[in-house]
Amino acid sequence: MAYQLKINGQQLQADVDADTPLLWVLRDTLDMKGTKFGCGMSLCGACTVHLNGNPIRSCVTPVAAVGDGAVTTVEGIGDDELGQRIQRTWKSLDVPQCGYCQAGQMMSALALLRQHPKPTDEQIDIGMGMNLCRCSTYLRIRQAIHQVAG
Ligand code: FES
Repeated sequence: MAYQLKINGQQLQADVDADTPLLWVLRDTLDMKGTKFGCGMSLCGACTVHLNGNPIRSCVTPVAAVGDGAVTTVEGIGDDELGQRIQRTWKSLDVPQCGYCQAGQMMSALALLRQHPKPTDEQIDIGMGMNLCRCSTYLRIRQAIHQVAG
């Protein structure tokens, strides 16, 4: 079935089965490789994107559930001033180590900072707690979020 998807402000079409996870539509059908596959079971956060501004796990979100919602992926994070600050800060503080989880980390950080413009350590731990990092960059992520918050 052909789905019309609004992704990063663009109208894109994907001809896939209804139960295809959004992650695979992004990566395989639309060739947007920024969003990563980690666990496929909603456990690690590597696949985090936004749907209407809210973080979702694209590995367990069937494309049919997206409807006419607005999807933002890490490729579109720079369309927003806050997202640009996150990009700049992640780079200036050298947050990533292997980098694999960082697209999901940045998408969760964007959602957190929209909800809590000056988050406490506890709010960061709660907001980012479901985004895992095998390299343990958690302290740099926390530092970066505080720096973006200013
Ligand atoms: Fe989706 Fe791990 S790949 S939560």
